Amino acid sequence: MAETRQPVTMDTIVSLCRRRGFVFPSSEIYGGLGSTYDYGHYGVLLKNQIRSLWLRAMVQERDDIVALDSAIILNPAVWEASGHVSGFTDPLVDCRTCKLRFRADQLELASCGRKPSKRPGETPDCDLTEPRQFNLMFETHVGALQDASSAAYLRPETAQGIFINFKNVSQLARRKPPFGIAQVGKSFRNEITPGNFLFRVREFEQMEMEFFVPPADAEEWYAYWIEQRLSWHRSLGLRESNLRVREHSAEERSHYSSGTSDIEYLYPIGWQELEGVANRGEYDLTQHTQHSGTKLEWIDPDGGRYTPHVIEPAVSIERIFVALLCDAYDEEVVGDRERTVLRLHPKVAPVKAAILPLIPRDEGMAGRARALYEELRRHHVVEHDEGGQIGRRYRRQDEIGTPWAFTVDEQTLEDETVTVRERDSLAQERLPLSGVRAWLDDALERDWRSPQSD
Ligand code: GAP
Repeated sequence: MAETRQPVTMDTIVSLCRRRGFVFPSSEIYGGLGSTYDYGHYGVLLKNQIRSLWLRAMVQERDDIVALDSAIILNPAVWEASGHVSGFTDPLVDCRTCKLRFRADQLELASCGRKPSKRPGETPDCDLTEPRQFNLMFETHVGALQDASSAAYLRPETAQGIFINFKNVSQLARRKPPFGIAQVGKSFRNEITPGNFLFRVREFEQMEMEFFVPPADAEEWYAYWIEQRLSWHRSLGLRESNLRVREHSAEERSHYSSGTSDIEYLYPIGWQELEGVANRGEYDLTQHTQHSGTKLEWIDPDGGRYTPHVIEPAVSIERIFVALLCDAYDEEVVGDRERTVLRLHPKVAPVKAAILPLIPRDEGMAGRARALYEELRRHHVVEHDEGGQIGRRYRRQDEIGTPWAFTVDEQTLEDETVTVRERDSLAQERLPLSGVRAWLDDALERDWRSPQSD
């Protein structure tokens, strides 16, 4: 039977993220703000890697996809047309006893407010209301007046910014269907029960691509994008056994979808959606044509017209961030010491290499290490660390997933070579100081597979 749980717990990942400065609870000095997080240095570097690898696969390495960056606050008519004002809701139940609120369709994932904590509805004291629909969009006001005429929404998905620009982009991008528009940016949802660290948050960064195709080809492109996205997640180093595709039943699909498949990851909370791939048909372009009066259609050079169908792969950086850390986390005993190591694919690792002078107060070692660091940092994110025992410095780098450490030691002073230590195998070899840059460039291009793979 397929596993249903990761061996690593979410608490372990949360504590590593805090200890090593990846992620902090937001507004902490004011008591926090439920399920809101701030990213520290390594968190920012890891997010940058995820975003740039996505843009590279979606835009840089393809001829048929262009980039867009649309506004977060759009004309509220956009959300009327898209169906979000009437339909972007989750069923909400209140517990009259513990005064907490839960998603009625996810009670099995929630905890009742009473101790010992059970699922809402499981204790005789639970007194749940009937479910009612709760709209997840955050409302705000644009301009100095705070009345109904100035009401607006923070976008709950980046996709609508793409649809409303279809005409602009298709006229100027010199592309014809099949072609796509890709966008990365913050989205906001007033989730009823956020939680499980970054897995479900109210403010997150989506990476969405809308691929416009001739209607007759939609099914074929839907299958194509499921396969492409699955293989991209594998290319980040996520283990094959922790990924699967699950097709939604008709009842489960969103209002706009004529087919949706989730790429699921085996998180510590079980199999959950990492990325969704949807066949949105002609729903969005038709809705915006009707509501705006602007025809969003494709006109062939021979005059033939049609409304393209849309295939959409959509994922958040946060869900990938958690999946990468869960997948990479490992503890092992080396000699008589335990080490925690993040076995991240070198191409996603926040820091690519550490440069360590063995004895920092030795001028020869310190000078050479600093010079090597200054050379490498022009090309890669690398770190110079001279604080503490060498063993402690190695363990710090292991915990943030740095694949290689170059150590400048006594022998360097004699023969101008350094030791390179490999994070996963702990193997060490010597390299000429002058060849380190080329060695690192080459190492970053090599294939990598998780040593924890089956
Ligand atoms: N435009 C389609 C759309 O937004 P979705 O399934 O609601 O579809 C797409 O969201 C992706 O955004 C999800 O697969 C997930 O990766 C991410 N996502 C959605 N809600 C999220 C949340 N509250 N926190 C973190 N990521 C979220």
